Amino acid sequence: MSLWSDVLSLLILFPALVDLLNNGLALKPPMGWLSWGYHECQVDCKNTTVRCLDESLIMSVADHLFNDGYIEAGYEYVIIDDCWSEPQRNEFGQLVPDRERFSRGMKFLADYIHSKGLKFGMYTSLGTYTCKGYPGIRDHFEIDAATFASWDVDFLKVDGCFIKADYLNTGYIDLSRTLNKTGRPILYTCSWPYYIQFIENKMVNFEPIVEHCNLFRTYHDIFHTAGNIYHTVKFFESSYDLMKKYHGPGQWFDPDMLLVGRGLNPTKGIDSFGWLRLQMVVYAMLPAPLLISCNLDAISQKEKELLLNKDLVAINQDMMAVPAQPFAIDPFLTIWVKPHEPKKGNMNPACSFAVVNFHFRDVTIPFFLHKYAVCEPFTRRYSVMDVLNRTFLKNITSLEPIHVTVPSSDAVVYTLFPL
Ligand code: GLA
Repeated sequence: MSLWSDVLSLLILFPALVDLLNNGLALKPPMGWLSWGYHECQVDCKNTTVRCLDESLIMSVADHLFNDGYIEAGYEYVIIDDCWSEPQRNEFGQLVPDRERFSRGMKFLADYIHSKGLKFGMYTSLGTYTCKGYPGIRDHFEIDAATFASWDVDFLKVDGCFIKADYLNTGYIDLSRTLNKTGRPILYTCSWPYYIQFIENKMVNFEPIVEHCNLFRTYHDIFHTAGNIYHTVKFFESSYDLMKKYHGPGQWFDPDMLLVGRGLNPTKGIDSFGWLRLQMVVYAMLPAPLLISCNLDAISQKEKELLLNKDLVAINQDMMAVPAQPFAIDPFLTIWVKPHEPKKGNMNPACSFAVVNFHFRDVTIPFFLHKYAVCEPFTRRYSVMDVLNRTFLKNITSLEPIHVTVPSSDAVVYTLFPL
């Protein structure tokens, strides 16, 4: 038998093989801007405190990404979350964008976003209603997938409010197949494991999830408090074994949005910048999708510099895509270590380590590279880069310590390049 007839008989015997998500997307953790964390369901365009979710907002985000250096740093997707549609479908059963806020329709916005070299993302939910009560995709898979494809959508976040485990377990797979069939590569992000574990209180089977979803939420919504950052980071620290198995090109655990730019709710005595930096460092190391959600008109210079720090983003976008291994020193102090693909002209991997300090005091500790097998093989000498300050510190051997000081509720991160 020829190779071709082998393949044909395989496909006849196992038709599901053609249904697996094979869109070739998200080979690196996706980066971009998503409306929910800052604008939430702000549909009142007369409110002057938070700008409403409308066409002009989305166009201004595309302009900022294009003009302010975000594209060069790797930010690519502009994603509209919940609350974009009319409350009812039209007479053909199709979803309709809110007639006032998106008066020129989604294809117009997609064209604008694409004209800037960016990609366009949208939101729906697997049930009859989205989490905010707008029409969901249930019973409309074919028609909605065709609509999203006709609007040139590149990314679809699919939530899972108000539905039961059985339907979560079949619906996300069916929708993945339906999106595949449109022929348009659409990055598919599922909230499936989150709803199974935390709403349905059932065990998650990751095998079908990684087969059918490019991104998947496994934990609660990120909320703008220090406590929430702590719990999210700790949850992902405890997910390392799962991530080692299931996290990588085309299939990423998603810890929800970055809060850099959005900030934390003001809490007396808490310097929120340290917390935001801590979150960004952990997301770089995991590596997690880097989805900003903030007012880009008003972002502070230091927050913008953090988002645009190319050495930090390089840790996240590294092609080796190995999740950082956490080593807990105590419940409030963890060292995360991760190897990287070798720098040009070098055979040996580079290695990054981050120290994440949840103590309410500064901590100084030594780091010895030779103790972390995850970064083997070691070479004789390394050049040490302080990633947050973007400076080279010194050259060392893998046996020599690097003494680092981490401020209270903050993180530091260093990359060691073999010499
Ligand atoms: C859920 C999701 C959020 C957001 C909202 C929108 O809570 O987890 O990320 O999409 O729904 O209603």
